[in-house]
Order: sequence, then C-alpha cells, then structure tokens
Amino acid sequence: MQEKVRTHGLILGIESSCDETAAAVVRRGREVLSNVVASQMQMHALYGGVVPELASREHLRNITPVVREAMAASGARLEEVDAVAVTSGPGLAGALLVGISYAKSLAFALGKPLIAVNHLEGHIHAVLMQQAEQEEGPTLALVVSGGHTHLYLAHATNGVWRYRNVGRTVDDAAGEAYDKVAKLLGLGYPGGPWIDTLATYGNPKAVPFRFQEIRRRDADPETPSFDFSFSGIKTAVLRYTETHAMKATVEERRKILASQPDRKPAEAVALLDSQTLDLIASFQHAVVGNLVRQAMRAAAYFGAKTVLVTGGVAANRALRLAMTRAGEEQGVATHFPQIALSTDNAAMIAAAAWPHFLAGESATETLNATPQLRLG
Ligand code: KG4
Ligand code: ZN
Repeated sequence: MQEKVRTHGLILGIESSCDETAAAVVRRGREVLSNVVASQMQMHALYGGVVPELASREHLRNITPVVREAMAASGARLEEVDAVAVTSGPGLAGALLVGISYAKSLAFALGKPLIAVNHLEGHIHAVLMQQAEQEEGPTLALVVSGGHTHLYLAHATNGVWRYRNVGRTVDDAAGEAYDKVAKLLGLGYPGGPWIDTLATYGNPKAVPFRFQEIRRRDADPETPSFDFSFSGIKTAVLRYTETHAMKATVEERRKILASQPDRKPAEAVALLDSQTLDLIASFQHAVVGNLVRQAMRAAAYFGAKTVLVTGGVAANRALRLAMTRAGEEQGVATHFPQIALSTDNAAMIAAAAWPHFLAGESATETLNATPQLRLG
C-alpha cells in the first residue's frame, strides 16, 4: 500500500535561482518527504554579497549531490517521481541555468513532464502548502526577500492560483535594505538574521525614521499606492553613522567579525555600543512598521481576510509579531511559512508545481531562464 501511494503525486523540485542549491520531494503539493538545501552563504559572506559567477560554479558543483541526497532522504526512487519542477526565474541567469539544464535532462531521461515554476509563486506556496484548507475570498500575499518586495492579490479557481501584483518596491528590496544596513554597520552577511537578533537589545524608538508615500508615475491615480521604497532608510542610516562619528567603531567591528566568521549574532552584542544597538532597533522598527502598514492597508482596500507573509524576511521575529498583532486588530488572519521554508528552498517549488501538474501544464524542451520573470 505504502509503495503504491509513493508512485503517485511525487514531484521533485529543484531550485538554483540565487545562492542556495536545493532539491526536495513533495507529495501532492503538501507532504514534504525531503528538503535539502546547500547554502553558499559562507562563501559569499567573504564578499559581503552574492557573486553571480561564483554562485553558478557552486550550483554546478552541488546540484548532483543535492538531488541525490533529496531522493535518498525521500525514500522514493527516481522512476516514481511524476514530474520534475524547476525554478525558471526570477533570479541570476547563470544560476538559474544550472538548475534548468539539470532538470531538463533529468525529465528527458525519465520521460516525465518538466514544470517551470516562478520563484515568487514558490515563496507563496511555502505558506499555502501548510494550510489545512483554503480560506474563502481574496488572499493577500506579501513576498519579502533579498531580491523582492511584492504585494499580490491571489485567488484560486479549481485549485489553480492566479495572482495580481498590487504593490512593489520601486528601488531596494526589504531584505536588501537589511543586508546593506548590516554591511554599513560592520555586521555579518546576510544582514537579516544579525539585525533580527541585535535589534532586541536596542530601543526601537530612539531614532525616528519615516517612510513617505511612494507613488509610481504609471500608477492609477484613483487607487491608493501600496508600493515600497527602502533605499531612503538605508541612506538615512548611513547619514546617521556619519553625523554621529561612528565610522571608526564600525571599521573596528568589521575587522573583528571578518576574523571570526563563525561568530553568531547573539555572541556579537559586546561589539556594539548602545547607540548602535538603538540605531539597529530603530531601523528594524521602521521597516517592520512600513511592511505591516502597507500589507494591512492593502488587505482592507481589497477586502482580503487572509494575509500570507513569505520570503527570507518573513523569518524575522519582529515582523511576525507585528503582523500577527495588526491582523488580530483588523480581523485578518496572518500566516507565515515554517522558518526553514521562509528562505529559499525547493520544497516550495515542488509544492507550487503541483496545481500546474494537475492542470496538465508543462514546460517545453526549449525552456530558458527568465531572470526578470514577473508574477501577475
Ligand atoms: O528568500 P531568500 O532566501 O532569497 C531571496 O529570494 O532573495 O531571502 C534572503 C533575504 C536576505 O536579504 C536576508 O538578509 C533576509 O532574507 N533574511 C532576513 C532574516 N533571515 C533572512 N531578514 C530579516 N530577518 C531575518 N531573520
Ligand atoms: Zn527567494
């Protein structure tokens, strides 16, 4: 019986859009049989950000062992997989191509369909796959990661999801702002987990950062704007460090942390004075406040009773807390992925592929990488 079930509903997902090489086997878009992620973070940390050329090379090195491990951990055999799903964009072209070529060859060799998945839809399914049942009415999804900050209105018809983009960043992504601010304060990479931890030691009201309403030129003047901008706050943090003569301490901290790459954020508190901790807490407070405000305003405007928050920044504890509280006040249900499924992984790609598989949608043999692929 067990064997029979295994031969149905299995999708092997492959993800290589940025700096994680990942593979996972998911049954019927919900049950994660295996989820393997090989992170290149330590390598890119040496450069303070993702180096595309190195990322492609690492994907090439890791992809076969990662897929092998995902298959072994799933307990299923390759012949039992019903389809191979792969991220086709958005992401780094050279990085995407590694996963796509691999998935194409595998699907061809196995004689199974190949399913192309939008990485952003993958992030949304990291939450949907955990929900017991689908809520009624429109759902709002906030995708906040290192490369993206988007608000989507999503709805499913007969299990097939459709998305409409109702807000996006006009410059930096929220995660990018975390990474850049961490870098300019001499902290480690990626910056999100550092700021998440260190913010708990500072006063979030110490520095009053403000966000102005952003309106794209092509936006409909009749509709309120749900767009974002995070480059201003990054510049404001930089100005603050300049006007408060923090440069020398920042450089000293950068040197110490560069010589101790394994030091965890919580073990670095002693390297920060109270002024810097307050600055970090204030930055996070402002960013979280802005994300929550835009998501809740959009939910009210579009009548969404459910808000999904996903992507790397959705791992942030302050964001989870503030969004949950605001949702309770506004009568909106808020959902987040498990922490391990917040950042890039392939389980979300296999899960997002499932409705496409059921609908008989598959990619052709000429599938290519689409670095700027949009959703909705
Ligand atoms: O989704 P993801 O793994 O990759 C992209 O698709 O971009 O997101 C990575 C981003 C990085 O910018 C990282 O700093 C941020 O997510 N991040 C966080 C946290 N954990 C990761 N940001 C804030 N708080 C966190 N705990
Ligand atoms: Zn991502």
